[in-house]
Amino acid sequence: MKIKNLDLKNNIFLAPMAGVTDLPFRLMCKKFGAGLACTEMVSSKAMYYNDKKTMSLIETHENEAPFAVQIFGSDPDIMAQTAEKALSTGASVLDINMGCPAPKVANNGDGSALLKNPQLIGEIVSKVSSAVDVPVTCKIRSGFDSVADVAEIARIIQQAGASAITVHPRTRDMYYSGTADRSLIKLVKESVSIPVIGNGDIFTAQSAMDMLASTGCDGVMIARGAQGNPFIFTQISQLFADGDISYNPTDAERLDTLLEHLELLMDYKGAYVGVREARKHIAWYIKGMKACAAMRERVCRIEDREQLFDEIKRYREFVEAK
Ligand SMILES: Cc1cc2nc3c(=O)[nH]c(=O)nc-3n(C[C@H](O)[C@H](O)[C@H](O)COP(=O)(O)O)c2cc1C
Repeated sequence: MKIKNLDLKNNIFLAPMAGVTDLPFRLMCKKFGAGLACTEMVSSKAMYYNDKKTMSLIETHENEAPFAVQIFGSDPDIMAQTAEKALSTGASVLDINMGCPAPKVANNGDGSALLKNPQLIGEIVSKVSSAVDVPVTCKIRSGFDSVADVAEIARIIQQAGASAITVHPRTRDMYYSGTADRSLIKLVKESVSIPVIGNGDIFTAQSAMDMLASTGCDGVMIARGAQGNPFIFTQISQLFADGDISYNPTDAERLDTLLEHLELLMDYKGAYVGVREARKHIAWYIKGMKACAAMRERVCRIEDREQLFDEIKRYREFVEAK
C-alpha cells in the first residue's frame, strides 16, 4: 500500500492508543507484521513548550521504521510550527487526531471537537501539510454529538492536502459503545480519491477481511484487538495474502511473546515503571487462559522485575501442563 510517496509493506495499521502504543508495544506489533504503527497522540501545545515527557512519546528505534506520529491540537499555527518537531525522531507520516473523545481534550476544542468545525479542519490540514515533506493523514470519528457530514469533511481534508484518512465510525458521544457504523467508511471511500483506512471493532482477521469487502477501504487499522495480541497482524496479513487462517499461537507461545514484550518495556522504561505498566499487558495477554484471574491478582502485588518474570515463567509451565 502507498500513502503519497511512502511504500508500506502492507495495508494493516496499528492505531494510536494513549497510554498503550509506546515504543515496546509498537515494536511488537511491527515484528508480527503491522505495516505501520502510530505513536499515541502528542500535544502540539506541549511540544511547543518542549515538554520533556511529551517528547519522549516520539522516541523510536531503527527496527520501527517507518512509523507515524500523531499530534493533537486546534491552533493551526502552533500545529504547523511544531509539526517538524513531531517528526524530529524520523517519523515517515504525520497523523492529526480528529477523534479523541476525552473531555480534557475535546473541551479544549481539540480531538473530536474539531468535527464541529470543518473550516478549522481545512485550515489545520492545509497549514500542517505545507509545513512538512512527509505525508499528512487525519483520523476522524463520524461526528461529535451526532453523525456529521463525513463525506464533506473527508473532501475538505483531501482538498487541504492530506494523503490518507482513517475513519472510526462512532460519534464522540458513543465513546467506544455501540457498533461502529461501517457504512460511513464506505461513504468516505466513495467521496475521496486518497486512501481510506477503516477502523473499528476489528478483533479477528475475518473481521478485517469483512471491513475491506463491505466498505471498499484501502487498509485496516486495529486498536483494542492488538492489546495483548500482536499476533492479529500476522493473522490478518496471512488471510489477506493467501487466505490462510491457520496461524493461532499456543498459550505458551503467547506467554513467550509476553516475556519478550516485557523485556523491551523494562529496557525502555526501567524496572520501576516497567513492572507497573506490565500489569495491564499481562492481563491482556493471559485473557482466557487457565486460572488467569488468580494470575492477574498475583502479578498486581509484585513490585520486583525478576519476581515478575519468574511468576510468568511459572505460569507458562502451569498453562503448558494442562
Ligand atoms: C486506550 C485507548 C487509547 C486511545 N488513544 C487514541 C489516541 O491517542 N489517538 C487516537 O486517534 N485514537 C485513540 N484511540 C482510539 C483508537 O485508535 C481506535 O480508533 C478505537 O479504539 C476504535 O478501534 P478498535 O475498535 O480497533 O479499538 C484510543 C483507544 C483506546 C482504547
